[in-house]
Amino acid sequence: MKRIVVLGSTGSIGTQTVDVVRQHSDELEIVGLAVNTRVGDMLAQARAHNVRNLAVGDERLADQAIASEVREQAGAQGVWGFGMDAVVDLVRLPEADVVVNALVGAAGLRASYETLRAGKVLALANKESLVVGGDLIMPLAAQVDAQRRTAGTAPAVGPAGALMPIDSEHGAIYQCLLGESEREVSRLWVTASGGPFRGRKRADLEGITPAQALNHPTWNMGAKISIDSSTLMNKGLEVIEAHHLFNMPYDKISVVVQPQSAIHSMVEFTDGSVKAHLGTTDMRIPIQ
Ligand SMILES: NC(=O)c1ccc[n+]([C@@H]2O[C@H](COP(=O)([O-])OP(=O)(O)OC[C@H]3O[C@@H](n4cnc5c(N)ncnc54)[C@H](OP(=O)(O)O)[C@@H]3O)[C@@H](O)[C@H]2O)c1
Repeated sequence: MKRIVVLGSTGSIGTQTVDVVRQHSDELEIVGLAVNTRVGDMLAQARAHNVRNLAVGDERLADQAIASEVREQAGAQGVWGFGMDAVVDLVRLPEADVVVNALVGAAGLRASYETLRAGKVLALANKESLVVGGDLIMPLAAQVDAQRRTAGTAPAVGPAGALMPIDSEHGAIYQCLLGESEREVSRLWVTASGGPFRGRKRADLEGITPAQALNHPTWNMGAKISIDSSTLMNKGLEVIEAHHLFNMPYDKISVVVQPQSAIHSMVEFTDGSVKAHLGTTDMRIPIQ
């Protein structure tokens, strides 16, 4: 049984993670949940999955009536709290094996850092952690990977599993690298759908609305990442993420537009062969 803390459980990635756990309740169990403001939704998840350890990022809610419901759900055995410290505290729960960091924005960095410091597996959707703190996070992940290899819980070559990306492109590259030696990789190919405005000319973009920008052609995601995808800023963040995650220089990471999002990303090897990861556009696959 893998015991999981889900940070950002009410968001796009968070709700899909909870769904994966629901479908695999014989193998997965949620032991902690954290959100920012949607406390009612978090409480519904907690009741459905019998979760006692709960945190709410927005500390102003500590004075509201709903706080007593959080305390009641936690009961005598659970830990609960309001504010970012309470959110980060959940990653250190002794009973947790894996932390899914599905927080949005740079606020996720502290949680990523403390997860690895606690020696837990970090399942990382919060790409901003690597964009702003890759040089801090990756050496910690390498330490946990080394412990995992020594303990025999990870293979001798390829990714060792301390930090597993929940991003379709990086999850794809991660899977292509399983069992492969880092020395034999010559290039990473990160695919991009091109977003809702692909092919439009500058003049066509003058009248676009936020609603159009949020209407991603192939993926259904949270608001920030959808807007970042419409401007291709998200692809820039993903190249930085890939650089840190896979220890690859920037000149060996290419971006290629693949409008159907059927190819989730590719790895090219020194012998000229290319491994591609294909699948449907369902984030529950990289989450799994
Ligand atoms: N969505 C995707 O398909 C996708 C794909 C690849 C990567 N990602 C990455 O995954 C991360 C999450 O994206 P998302 O689309 O799932 O975002 P989202 O739908 O906006 O959800 C964000 C979640 O984080 C919670 N949260 C935000 N700030 C918090 C804080 N300070 N303390 C505690 N909880 C906080 C929110 O709680 P409330 O509900 O209470 O506000 C919500 O549960 C982002 O880094 C994104 O780039 C997402």
